[in-house]
Amino acid sequence: MKTYTTAGALGADIAAWKAQGQHVAFVPTMGNLHNGHVALVDLARERADRLVVSIFVNPLQFGPEEDFSAYPRTVEEDAALLVDAGVDALFLPTVDEIYPRGENHATFVEVPGVSDILCGAFRPGHFRGVATVVAKLFNLVRPNLAVFGAKDYQQLVVIRRMAEDLCFPLEILACPTGRETDGLAMSSRNRYLTPEERRIAPKLHAALAEAVARLEAGAEDWTAIAGQLVAGLEEVGFRPEYFELRDAVTLQAAGCDDRDVVIVAAAWLGRARLIDNLRLTR
Ligand code: PAJ
Repeated sequence: MKTYTTAGALGADIAAWKAQGQHVAFVPTMGNLHNGHVALVDLARERADRLVVSIFVNPLQFGPEEDFSAYPRTVEEDAALLVDAGVDALFLPTVDEIYPRGENHATFVEVPGVSDILCGAFRPGHFRGVATVVAKLFNLVRPNLAVFGAKDYQQLVVIRRMAEDLCFPLEILACPTGRETDGLAMSSRNRYLTPEERRIAPKLHAALAEAVARLEAGAEDWTAIAGQLVAGLEEVGFRPEYFELRDAVTLQAAGCDDRDVVIVAAAWLGRARLIDNLRLTR
């Protein structure tokens, strides 16, 4: 695996691979890699000749009160894991490489409609930061294929829409959510949980699973289901932000008997903001 800190050197090697007819897959990350990320890398590896992973903690997608400086940075461990996973190129840009004009960066990618609801309503500007950095990374890497996790379901929808609207010539692939054995979705932010909170954390996934089970059993009153499950989460210490039934493609409001839906949830537990979702297709 070769490590690059500048886009110029990376771009030259990728152009050479593509000139030889090789297909290039790309997995953007913010590092502190876990098995959820590894699943993305494995999926990308299967689909392409060359595999590029980026690690960049993107300041633009963090709010002023959020954990940008505290976000775990574990580049050495991450690099070792990526070597084992068969990655060809690791792109580790500095903030200056991605935002050379710093505060004077002027061009942003916005995907209204899918960005200002759910997580976007609680994290203003977050998806603008994500869409902007992913568009920049797509331009620097120019992959044939990019892989994103279904765990960040709204992010996946935003990026699919952005890539389609801006005619990025690449395929976007979704990888299923990687979970711990007790159901908790793997996340770099799980390390903010105390041992006691870590014991409670899987109850978010359990609540989503319960909601799916009730819909599958023919329940018709989503407000009642969500009300009960949110109350249960609050009782064990969560501070839920939302627990919603949405259309799986548009993320707009859905009904209990719609055919392709996703139940999306976000809840604080101690210092950790946990998000999770389950899709139900019938
Ligand atoms: P990060 O949180 O590091 O996640 C990188 C990729 O891994 C994303 O596509 C995310 O959905 C996926 N991922 C994380 N945990 C996962 C899990 N448990 N199962 C499956 N996939 C999982 O998401 C970001 O970084 C950033 O917003 C980024 C897209 C890199 C833009 O800065």
